Amino acid sequence: MPDASELAGAVQNNNIVLQDFQISRQERASIKGQRPRVIWLTGLSGAGKSTIANALEAQLHQAGYHTYILDGDNIRHGLNSDLGFSDQDRVENIRRVAEVAKLMADAGLIVIVSFISPFRADRDMARKMMSPGEFIEVFIDTSLKECIRRDPKGLYRKALAGEIKKFTGISSSYEMPLAPEVHLRTEEGTAYDMATRIAHHMGIKLS
Ligand code: ADX
Repeated sequence: MPDASELAGAVQNNNIVLQDFQISRQERASIKGQRPRVIWLTGLSGAGKSTIANALEAQLHQAGYHTYILDGDNIRHGLNSDLGFSDQDRVENIRRVAEVAKLMADAGLIVIVSFISPFRADRDMARKMMSPGEFIEVFIDTSLKECIRRDPKGLYRKALAGEIKKFTGISSSYEMPLAPEVHLRTEEGTAYDMATRIAHHMGIKLS
């Protein structure tokens, strides 16, 4: 079995060469009549990211678009089950999900990514990995006070009691987007309304 340093060395020494294939990403997308997108939802735990992702996917699916949701809680049960919540692990969490989103966009899909993704540099890295105009950053803006009030998973209660270390917003930082494509103040409407605003930003008309 090769160890990790041997594998990293193979890439660095240019012993692994990218392969080109006949069908382009545009051709894959055009068969579906859609433009690939990465809709990146960022915000605190309990802000409503998964609920809005769900509403958006339902709206797009009904309108005939091929979508997929990458959600932090779910991906952390599989691909990223080896990662915790240290800053370093969160960086790796986002790096991997950005790579997966890029592959899915290459396959022609509209990918909805729903991760806290607390660090600006990581979200910017994800943006740079995608084609121009493909990445849509959506700030799911819910105040910490409201997230603590909702506390859908009971995690804020535990974090405030010191039972969870490095909890975002309590003992680990969240860097708000400075210029998101879409800024949703969730306390001003329903999840359905928020999802509709994202679809409109994408230029998609819903019936
Ligand atoms: S991220 O910060 O690395 O982007 P991610 O979106 O994957 O986070 O996972 C966040 C989810 O993990 C939260 O919604 C919550 O359910 C759970 N969680 C468990 N521990 C923590 C923690 N220390 N900080 C934030 N979320 C946590």
